[in-house]
Amino acid sequence: MSYSINITKVEKSGVDQLDFDNIPLGTTFTDHMFVCDYENGVWVNPRIEPLRPVPTHPAAMALHYGQAIFEGMKAYKDPEGTPMLFRPEQNAARMNKSADRMGMPLFPEELFVEGLRELVSIERNWIPPQQGSALYLRPFMYADEPFIGMRAATHFKFIIMASPAGPFFSKPIKLWAENFFIRAAQGGTGEAKAAGNYAAAIRPTELAKSKGYDQVLWLDADEHMFIQEVGTMNIFFKINGEFITPELDGSVLHGITRASVIELLRDMGYKVTERKITILEIREASKNGELEEAFGTGTAVGIAYIQEIGMEGDTIHVSTENPVGVKVNDTLNAIKTGLIEDKFGWMRKVQNELA
Ligand SMILES: Cc1ncc(COP(=O)(O)O)c(C=O)c1O
Repeated sequence: MSYSINITKVEKSGVDQLDFDNIPLGTTFTDHMFVCDYENGVWVNPRIEPLRPVPTHPAAMALHYGQAIFEGMKAYKDPEGTPMLFRPEQNAARMNKSADRMGMPLFPEELFVEGLRELVSIERNWIPPQQGSALYLRPFMYADEPFIGMRAATHFKFIIMASPAGPFFSKPIKLWAENFFIRAAQGGTGEAKAAGNYAAAIRPTELAKSKGYDQVLWLDADEHMFIQEVGTMNIFFKINGEFITPELDGSVLHGITRASVIELLRDMGYKVTERKITILEIREASKNGELEEAFGTGTAVGIAYIQEIGMEGDTIHVSTENPVGVKVNDTLNAIKTGLIEDKFGWMRKVQNELA
Protein backbone atom coordinates (compact mmCIF):
# COMPACT_ATOMS: atom_id res chain seq x y z
CA MET A 1 0.00 0.00 0.00
CA SER A 2 1.32 3.42 -0.87
CA TYR A 3 0.51 6.35 1.39
CA SER A 4 0.17 9.92 0.31
CA ILE A 5 2.56 12.00 2.37
CA ASN A 6 2.05 15.73 2.09
CA ILE A 7 5.37 17.58 1.92
CA THR A 8 6.11 21.15 2.92
CA LYS A 9 9.76 22.11 2.66
CA VAL A 10 11.78 24.80 4.44
CA GLU A 11 12.72 27.77 2.32
CA LYS A 12 16.38 27.42 3.17
CA SER A 13 18.12 24.39 4.64
CA GLY A 14 20.24 24.85 7.77
CA VAL A 15 22.69 22.16 6.65
CA ASP A 16 25.25 24.74 5.46
CA GLN A 17 25.73 25.84 9.04
CA LEU A 18 26.71 22.38 10.27
CA ASP A 19 30.40 21.59 10.77
CA PHE A 20 30.36 17.88 9.90
CA ASP A 21 33.71 17.38 11.62
CA ASN A 22 32.33 18.69 14.89
CA ILE A 23 28.74 17.60 15.36
CA PRO A 24 27.41 18.37 18.85
CA LEU A 25 25.82 15.24 20.32
CA GLY A 26 22.03 15.19 20.30
CA THR A 27 21.46 18.92 19.88
CA THR A 28 21.49 19.35 16.11
CA PHE A 29 18.34 18.56 14.17
CA THR A 30 17.62 18.46 10.46
CA ASP A 31 15.24 20.82 8.64
CA HIS A 32 12.12 18.63 8.61
CA MET A 33 10.07 16.13 10.59
CA PHE A 34 7.51 13.51 9.64
CA VAL A 35 4.22 13.91 11.54
CA CYS A 36 0.99 11.91 11.68
CA ASP A 37 -2.06 12.32 13.95
CA TYR A 38 -4.30 9.70 15.48
CA GLU A 39 -7.90 10.85 15.81
CA ASN A 40 -11.27 9.10 15.83
CA GLY A 41 -9.54 5.73 15.74
CA VAL A 42 -7.41 6.28 12.62
CA TRP A 43 -4.01 7.70 11.68
CA VAL A 44 -4.55 10.75 9.47
CA ASN A 45 -2.66 13.43 7.59
CA PRO A 46 0.84 11.94 7.25
CA ARG A 47 3.11 14.85 6.34
CA ILE A 48 6.62 16.14 6.28
CA GLU A 49 6.94 19.70 7.46
CA PRO A 50 9.62 22.06 8.76
CA LEU A 51 10.84 20.98 12.20
CA ARG A 52 9.45 23.27 14.84
CA PRO A 53 8.14 23.13 18.41
CA VAL A 54 4.82 21.33 18.68
CA PRO A 55 2.21 23.16 20.80
CA THR A 56 1.38 21.08 23.88
CA HIS A 57 -1.66 21.46 26.11
CA PRO A 58 -0.64 21.31 29.79
CA ALA A 59 -3.14 18.46 30.23
CA ALA A 60 -1.62 16.40 27.37
CA MET A 61 -1.90 12.89 28.75
CA ALA A 62 1.67 11.86 27.91
CA LEU A 63 2.90 14.46 30.40
CA HIS A 64 0.85 12.97 33.23
CA TYR A 65 0.30 9.29 32.56
CA GLY A 66 3.33 8.61 30.41
CA GLN A 67 1.85 7.12 27.25
CA ALA A 68 5.04 7.78 25.28
CA ILE A 69 7.19 5.34 23.31
CA PHE A 70 10.07 5.74 20.89
CA GLU A 71 12.49 4.05 18.52
CA GLY A 72 16.09 4.73 17.56
CA MET A 73 17.88 3.89 14.33
CA LYS A 74 20.39 5.32 11.88
CA ALA A 75 20.68 6.15 8.18
CA TYR A 76 24.05 5.62 6.50
CA LYS A 77 25.44 6.30 3.03
CA ASP A 78 26.95 3.69 0.74
CA PRO A 79 30.13 4.50 -1.22
CA GLU A 80 28.01 5.96 -4.06
CA GLY A 81 26.28 8.29 -1.60
CA THR A 82 22.94 6.45 -1.60
CA PRO A 83 21.26 6.68 1.82
CA MET A 84 20.55 3.32 3.47
CA LEU A 85 18.46 2.20 6.43
CA PHE A 86 19.36 -0.76 8.62
CA ARG A 87 16.43 -3.16 9.13
CA PRO A 88 13.74 -0.46 9.47
CA GLU A 89 10.92 -3.05 9.45
CA GLN A 90 12.29 -4.36 12.74
CA ASN A 91 11.96 -0.92 14.33
CA ALA A 92 8.43 -0.61 12.96
CA ALA A 93 7.47 -3.97 14.46
CA ARG A 94 9.11 -3.18 17.81
CA MET A 95 7.36 0.19 17.95
CA ASN A 96 4.05 -1.62 17.65
CA LYS A 97 4.99 -4.13 20.37
CA SER A 98 5.70 -1.14 22.59
CA ALA A 99 2.44 0.54 21.56
CA ASP A 100 0.46 -2.59 22.34
CA ARG A 101 2.00 -2.93 25.83
CA MET A 102 1.37 0.73 26.63
CA GLY A 103 -2.27 0.77 25.47
CA MET A 104 -1.46 2.93 22.45
CA PRO A 105 -2.68 2.55 18.86
CA LEU A 106 -0.57 0.53 16.43
CA PHE A 107 1.08 2.56 13.68
CA PRO A 108 0.90 1.10 10.13
CA GLU A 109 4.31 -0.52 9.63
CA GLU A 110 4.47 0.31 5.90
CA LEU A 111 3.79 3.97 6.70
CA PHE A 112 6.49 3.89 9.39
CA VAL A 113 9.04 2.73 6.80
CA GLU A 114 7.71 5.02 4.08
CA GLY A 115 7.84 8.03 6.42
CA LEU A 116 11.44 7.17 7.24
CA ARG A 117 12.35 6.80 3.57
CA GLU A 118 10.78 10.12 2.58
CA LEU A 119 12.35 11.97 5.49
CA VAL A 120 15.79 10.46 4.86
CA SER A 121 15.47 11.20 1.16
CA ILE A 122 14.71 14.87 1.86
CA GLU A 123 17.42 15.12 4.53
CA ARG A 124 20.08 13.16 2.60
CA ASN A 125 22.48 16.11 2.72
CA TRP A 126 22.45 15.87 6.52
CA ILE A 127 23.91 12.34 6.53
CA PRO A 128 27.50 12.91 7.62
CA PRO A 129 29.97 11.57 5.05
CA GLN A 130 32.64 10.66 7.63
CA GLN A 131 33.18 6.96 8.31
CA GLY A 132 31.43 6.02 11.57
CA SER A 133 29.03 8.97 11.40
CA ALA A 134 25.34 8.61 10.60
CA LEU A 135 21.98 10.33 10.66
CA TYR A 136 20.22 9.28 13.85
CA LEU A 137 16.46 8.82 13.42
CA ARG A 138 14.02 9.09 16.26
CA PRO A 139 10.47 7.87 15.60
CA PHE A 140 8.22 8.41 18.62
CA MET A 141 4.57 8.43 19.63
CA TYR A 142 2.85 10.19 22.52
CA ALA A 143 -0.61 10.93 23.85
CA ASP A 144 -1.38 14.59 23.11
CA GLU A 145 -5.02 14.52 24.17
CA PRO A 146 -5.76 17.04 26.93
CA PHE A 147 -7.53 15.06 29.63
CA ILE A 148 -7.22 14.59 33.39
CA GLY A 149 -8.12 11.02 34.26
CA MET A 150 -6.63 7.54 34.02
CA ARG A 151 -7.56 5.89 30.76
CA ALA A 152 -6.01 5.30 27.36
CA ALA A 153 -5.81 8.52 25.38
CA THR A 154 -7.74 8.83 22.13
CA HIS A 155 -5.48 11.35 20.41
CA PHE A 156 -1.81 10.70 19.65
CA LYS A 157 1.00 12.13 17.61
CA PHE A 158 3.58 10.07 15.74
CA ILE A 159 6.71 12.01 14.77
CA ILE A 160 10.07 11.15 13.21
CA MET A 161 12.95 13.55 13.84
CA ALA A 162 16.48 13.28 12.54
CA SER A 163 19.74 14.34 14.13
CA PRO A 164 23.21 13.99 12.60
CA ALA A 165 25.62 12.07 14.82
CA GLY A 166 29.42 12.21 14.68
CA PRO A 167 31.66 9.13 14.70
CA PHE A 168 31.39 7.04 17.80
CA PHE A 169 34.67 5.78 19.16
CA SER A 170 34.05 2.71 21.28
CA LYS A 171 36.15 3.20 24.35
CA PRO A 172 36.02 0.26 26.77
CA ILE A 173 33.36 0.81 29.42
CA LYS A 174 32.90 -0.05 33.08
CA LEU A 175 29.55 -1.30 34.32
CA TRP A 176 27.97 -1.30 37.76
CA ALA A 177 25.90 -4.42 38.52
CA GLU A 178 23.00 -2.72 40.29
CA ASN A 179 21.77 -4.66 43.31
CA PHE A 180 19.01 -2.39 44.61
CA PHE A 181 17.28 -0.51 41.82
CA ILE A 182 15.67 -2.51 39.02
CA ARG A 183 14.82 -1.69 35.43
CA ALA A 184 12.21 -4.33 34.67
CA ALA A 185 10.23 -7.12 36.29
CA GLN A 186 8.29 -9.97 34.75
CA GLY A 187 4.97 -8.57 33.56
CA GLY A 188 6.29 -5.00 33.59
CA THR A 189 7.24 -2.79 30.68
CA GLY A 190 10.89 -3.84 30.18
CA GLU A 191 10.29 -5.19 26.71
CA ALA A 192 8.68 -1.94 25.56
CA LYS A 193 10.70 1.06 24.47
CA ALA A 194 8.61 3.19 26.80
CA ALA A 195 9.83 6.62 27.88
CA GLY A 196 9.15 5.79 31.53
CA ASN A 197 11.69 2.94 31.50
CA TYR A 198 14.39 5.47 30.73
CA ALA A 199 13.14 7.97 33.34
CA ALA A 200 13.41 5.26 36.00
CA ALA A 201 16.98 4.49 34.92
CA ILE A 202 18.28 8.05 35.18
CA ARG A 203 18.87 8.21 38.95
CA PRO A 204 20.53 4.77 39.25
CA THR A 205 22.74 5.65 36.25
CA GLU A 206 23.77 8.93 37.89
CA LEU A 207 24.67 7.04 41.08
CA ALA A 208 26.71 4.49 39.10
CA LYS A 209 28.53 7.34 37.34
CA SER A 210 29.31 8.97 40.68
CA LYS A 211 31.06 5.70 41.61
CA GLY A 212 33.20 5.86 38.46
CA TYR A 213 31.15 3.58 36.18
CA ASP A 214 29.81 4.38 32.72
CA GLN A 215 26.53 2.48 32.78
CA VAL A 216 24.31 0.28 34.91
CA LEU A 217 24.21 -3.47 34.35
CA TRP A 218 20.61 -4.35 35.19
CA LEU A 219 19.84 -7.49 37.19
CA ASP A 220 16.53 -9.26 37.67
CA ALA A 221 13.91 -7.82 40.01
CA ASP A 222 13.50 -10.82 42.34
CA GLU A 223 17.01 -11.93 43.25
CA HIS A 224 19.31 -9.29 41.74
CA MET A 225 21.21 -12.18 40.27
CA PHE A 226 20.24 -12.75 36.63
CA ILE A 227 21.73 -10.37 34.08
CA GLN A 228 19.26 -8.47 31.89
CA GLU A 229 20.92 -5.70 29.87
CA VAL A 230 22.86 -2.45 30.05
CA GLY A 231 21.62 1.22 29.83
CA THR A 232 20.75 1.26 26.13
CA MET A 233 22.45 -1.97 25.09
CA ASN A 234 22.04 -5.73 25.21
CA ILE A 235 25.00 -7.71 26.49
CA PHE A 236 27.13 -10.63 25.26
CA PHE A 237 29.78 -12.68 27.08
CA LYS A 238 32.31 -15.06 25.53
CA ILE A 239 33.07 -17.88 27.95
CA ASN A 240 35.28 -20.76 26.87
CA GLY A 241 34.78 -20.02 23.21
CA GLU A 242 30.97 -19.81 23.41
CA PHE A 243 28.90 -16.62 23.29
CA ILE A 244 26.13 -16.24 25.84
CA THR A 245 23.50 -13.50 25.91
CA PRO A 246 20.54 -13.23 28.32
CA GLU A 247 17.38 -14.76 26.87
CA LEU A 248 14.45 -12.52 25.95
CA ASP A 249 12.35 -13.31 28.99
CA GLY A 250 9.94 -10.39 28.82
CA SER A 251 12.12 -7.98 30.78
CA VAL A 252 14.78 -7.31 28.13
CA LEU A 253 14.48 -5.06 25.09
CA HIS A 254 14.55 -7.01 21.83
CA GLY A 255 17.64 -5.26 20.47
CA ILE A 256 17.93 -5.21 16.69
CA THR A 257 21.71 -5.07 16.99
CA ARG A 258 21.50 -8.04 19.39
CA ALA A 259 19.55 -10.11 16.84
CA SER A 260 21.99 -9.10 14.07
CA VAL A 261 25.07 -9.89 16.18
CA ILE A 262 23.67 -13.34 16.99
CA GLU A 263 23.31 -14.00 13.25
CA LEU A 264 26.78 -12.64 12.49
CA LEU A 265 28.45 -14.68 15.23
CA ARG A 266 26.71 -17.88 14.12
CA ASP A 267 27.69 -17.11 10.54
CA MET A 268 31.31 -16.79 11.73
CA GLY A 269 31.01 -20.27 13.21
CA TYR A 270 30.58 -19.39 16.89
CA LYS A 271 28.12 -21.06 19.16
CA VAL A 272 25.67 -18.50 20.60
CA THR A 273 23.36 -19.44 23.44
CA GLU A 274 20.45 -17.34 24.69
CA ARG A 275 19.84 -18.33 28.29
CA LYS A 276 19.63 -17.15 31.86
CA ILE A 277 23.02 -16.13 33.17
CA THR A 278 23.91 -14.90 36.65
CA ILE A 279 26.41 -12.29 37.70
CA LEU A 280 28.04 -14.98 39.88
CA GLU A 281 28.62 -17.16 36.81
CA ILE A 282 30.38 -14.24 35.12
CA ARG A 283 32.49 -13.60 38.22
CA GLU A 284 33.44 -17.27 38.38
CA ALA A 285 34.37 -17.36 34.69
CA SER A 286 36.52 -14.26 35.13
CA LYS A 287 38.31 -15.76 38.16
CA ASN A 288 38.97 -18.99 36.23
CA GLY A 289 40.31 -17.12 33.22
CA GLU A 290 37.40 -18.33 31.07
CA LEU A 291 35.74 -14.96 30.46
CA GLU A 292 37.28 -14.10 27.11
CA GLU A 293 35.20 -11.15 25.93
CA ALA A 294 32.23 -9.05 26.98
CA PHE A 295 30.46 -6.38 24.98
CA GLY A 296 27.25 -4.41 24.73
CA THR A 297 25.28 -4.03 21.50
CA GLY A 298 23.02 -1.16 20.43
CA THR A 299 22.20 1.28 17.65
CA ALA A 300 23.97 4.23 19.26
CA VAL A 301 27.34 2.56 19.79
CA GLY A 302 27.33 -0.58 17.66
CA ILE A 303 29.56 -2.65 19.92
CA ALA A 304 30.86 -1.31 23.25
CA TYR A 305 33.65 -3.35 24.82
CA ILE A 306 33.31 -3.98 28.54
CA GLN A 307 36.51 -3.86 30.57
CA GLU A 308 35.17 -4.17 34.09
CA ILE A 309 31.99 -4.92 36.03
CA GLY A 310 31.74 -3.62 39.57
CA MET A 311 29.44 -5.48 41.96
CA GLU A 312 28.78 -5.29 45.67
CA GLY A 313 32.08 -6.24 47.34
CA ASP A 314 33.94 -7.35 44.19
CA THR A 315 35.17 -6.39 40.73
CA ILE A 316 34.95 -8.56 37.65
CA HIS A 317 37.79 -7.98 35.22
CA VAL A 318 37.34 -8.68 31.52
CA SER A 319 40.12 -9.04 28.98
CA THR A 320 40.76 -5.77 27.18
CA GLU A 321 41.39 -7.71 23.98
CA ASN A 322 38.19 -8.21 22.00
CA PRO A 323 39.21 -9.95 18.78
CA VAL A 324 35.77 -11.31 17.98
CA GLY A 325 33.95 -8.20 19.19
CA VAL A 326 36.12 -6.04 16.94
CA LYS A 327 35.51 -8.34 13.98
CA VAL A 328 31.75 -8.24 14.55
CA ASN A 329 31.80 -4.45 14.91
CA ASP A 330 33.83 -3.99 11.74
CA THR A 331 31.60 -6.37 9.79
CA LEU A 332 28.41 -4.69 11.00
CA ASN A 333 29.76 -1.23 10.12
CA ALA A 334 30.90 -2.43 6.69
CA ILE A 335 27.44 -3.85 5.97
CA LYS A 336 25.73 -0.65 7.16
CA THR A 337 27.88 1.53 4.90
CA GLY A 338 27.75 -0.77 1.88
CA LEU A 339 31.46 -1.62 1.98
CA ILE A 340 30.79 -5.34 1.93
CA GLU A 341 28.02 -7.47 0.53
CA ASP A 342 24.83 -7.44 2.60
CA LYS A 343 24.34 -11.18 2.46
CA PHE A 344 21.74 -11.10 5.24
CA GLY A 345 19.49 -8.71 3.31
CA TRP A 346 19.40 -6.13 6.10
CA MET A 347 19.91 -2.87 4.24
CA ARG A 348 17.19 -0.81 2.54
CA LYS A 349 18.38 1.74 0.00
CA VAL A 350 16.51 5.05 -0.04
CA GLN A 351 16.06 5.80 -3.69
CA ASN A 352 13.11 8.16 -3.61
CA GLU A 353 14.14 11.29 -5.39
CA LEU A 354 11.77 13.77 -3.83
CA ALA A 355 14.56 15.97 -2.49
C1 LIG B 1 17.15 -0.65 26.99
C2 LIG B 1 17.81 -0.92 25.68
N1 LIG B 1 18.35 -2.13 25.46
C3 LIG B 1 18.94 -2.44 24.28
C4 LIG B 1 19.00 -1.52 23.25
C5 LIG B 1 19.63 -1.91 21.94
O1 LIG B 1 18.65 -2.02 20.96
P1 LIG B 1 19.02 -1.79 19.42
O2 LIG B 1 20.11 -2.73 19.11
O3 LIG B 1 17.76 -2.09 18.69
O4 LIG B 1 19.47 -0.38 19.30
C6 LIG B 1 18.45 -0.25 23.44
C7 LIG B 1 18.49 0.75 22.37
O5 LIG B 1 17.53 0.93 21.68
C8 LIG B 1 17.84 0.08 24.67
O6 LIG B 1 17.30 1.28 24.88
